[in-house]
Amino acid sequence: MEARVSVIEKRLSNIKRIISVASGKGGVGKSLIASSLALNLSKKGYKVGLLDLDLYGPSSHIILGVKDVFPEEDKGIIPPNINGINFMSIVYFTKDKPSAFRGVDISNIIIELLAITQWGSLDYLIIDMPPGTGDETLDVIRLIKKSEFLVVTTPSKVAMGAVSKLLKILKELKIPITGVLENMVMTKSSFVKNQIKEMNLKYLGSISLDQHLEDSIGKTDKLLETDFMKELDKIINTIKL
Ligand SMILES: Nc1ncnc2c1ncn2[C@@H]1O[C@H](COP(=O)(O)OP(=O)(O)OP(=O)(O)O)[C@@H](O)[C@H]1O
Ligand SMILES: [Mg+2]
Repeated sequence: MEARVSVIEKRLSNIKRIISVASGKGGVGKSLIASSLALNLSKKGYKVGLLDLDLYGPSSHIILGVKDVFPEEDKGIIPPNINGINFMSIVYFTKDKPSAFRGVDISNIIIELLAITQWGSLDYLIIDMPPGTGDETLDVIRLIKKSEFLVVTTPSKVAMGAVSKLLKILKELKIPITGVLENMVMTKSSFVKNQIKEMNLKYLGSISLDQHLEDSIGKTDKLLETDFMKELDKIINTIKL
């Protein structure tokens, strides 16, 4: 176990920045933001990796339209390059069949994935996190010491309730928080922004609900042209990610 943990440190040693896209709540747009962020940074010329750690409901491969590829083996495995992104997901091994992992297995799968993946040198590794504050989130904190957290919420008070919990945990554990991104905004309100400021955290900006987005899922060329991506791009440029 400890040996594998030190292998993980080695595997991640040539990555400049690791950003975990997380939320206390499900369905707020983590996977879409993680995939789009990876795509955007890669188009800007950075070397980018994307790791889908949502072992119960992996979805980055659907957003990026990944089909019929498999990682190469060479003293570990090399993530295939999808539209400029080095992409790693449990999906390569489960072949998109529903996976019913028990809680105890989750840590082992995450350790295994991190220990076998050869990222090489990267400017950014973006991690698509599962919802909530369960074992996976704690594993990432424990195993990937260099990771910072970009937290996603929606304008809903319900989402903010769960997101506040995650933010408190991260703060308590002294984990760096990139900031909070408000997604799927329909009407202007400063509710989320005020809450984030009260917590002394950075409000990164807001992204509107894009009615036409669904047509672009699985087609990266189209995704790059969406209003969603344009708004995300503005935020990335403003916060100088
Ligand atoms: N700004 C937006 N405009 C329109 N649709 C959006 C927006 N953000 C996300 N979506 C859509 O909402 C759905 C949920 O997004 P996504 O799967 O990225 O959420 P998630 O937080 O990763 O969910 P889970 O917790 O299940 O992993 C997807 O169909 C996605 O395309
Ligand atoms: Mg997701």
